[in-house]
Amino acid sequence: GLLGGNGADHRFQALREGAALVGLLDPLANPAMRKLAEHGLTAFAMELMPRITRAQSMDALSSMATLAGYRAVILAALTVPRLFPLMMTAAGTLTASRAFVLGAGVAGLQAIATARRLGAMVDAYDLRPAVKEQVESLGANFVTLELEAGRAEDASGYATAQADDFYARQEALLSDRLSQADAVITTALVPGREAPKLISAASVERMRPGSVIVDLAAEHGGNCELTEPGQAIERSGVTIIGPIQLASEVPVHASQMYARNISSFAQLLIQDGELTFDQEDEIVSSTLVAHQGKLVNPMVRESLVEA
Ligand code: NAI
Repeated sequence: GLLGGNGADHRFQALREGAALVGLLDPLANPAMRKLAEHGLTAFAMELMPRITRAQSMDALSSMATLAGYRAVILAALTVPRLFPLMMTAAGTLTASRAFVLGAGVAGLQAIATARRLGAMVDAYDLRPAVKEQVESLGANFVTLELEAGRAEDASGYATAQADDFYARQEALLSDRLSQADAVITTALVPGREAPKLISAASVERMRPGSVIVDLAAEHGGNCELTEPGQAIERSGVTIIGPIQLASEVPVHASQMYARNISSFAQLLIQDGELTFDQEDEIVSSTLVAHQGKLVNPMVRESLVEA
């Protein structure tokens, strides 16, 4: 692609020095960021958009997460050998399916809303207690585990990483809940890190045959130990799907939302047809990765050093 992987041809080199590049650049994982800077590009990474009200219309990650959350439930509903809604029929009552959503951020909340619209009974869990109210307002049950998280979220509302023994206890406590679910949608992420493992192989063994896990964290290593990114596998009758770029399966609305995000951002960066931006502006300082030959974003610099 435009950025290439390690050693791939970097097509951005066709851009002239001083040109601005705006896009989903995968800035915390792609080593090409340094090359962008060396090439003299002014690069903005949409992934680094701050979670502030003024930036909401520019937030591409939220756009894609919204679509992925919806699509994950559709995928689950098509995979389970049962209906989602309760139905009273002449041939008897069909009970509603139980959905369990792990991680109630943007994707998770959309998954909850979609599963509710299809008539499932929905439980949801998140590390951040602040989302309980949002979960309940969508008609789902918020699961509380007997477990103290350290500081659960950072200043921007993202989940913070927890100690290993926290994750181990969390996984054990979740196992009982998982064994009652027909459809599990996982969305738990911590920025710049591998996704937390919330479902072990042993937990999968305890799940109902015919149940499904749709792991939206697959691109970041998965929330389930057995997830294989880009594949659907089966283990003891449980289907585990690790979709990649699920938003691309809803291309009309994905393009509509992304176009809106980009055009909103462009309005901030361009005045009277000229690229003019204020580096003191939080939106600019958060998203600007490379400028005037330098890697200017501390988070990106740090991630390259770690890599
Ligand atoms: P994300 O995609 O980084 O993570 C998804 C969810 O997984 C989060 O809710 C997180 O708390 C949860 N999670 C992480 N580790 C977990 C664990 N071990 N167990 C259970 N759950 C775990 O998050 P997303 O969806 O991008 O949202 C992050 C925050 O940003 C939220 O507070 C959201 O409300 C906020 N936000 C604010 C916006 C704005 O004000 N402009 C726009 C979009 C989101």
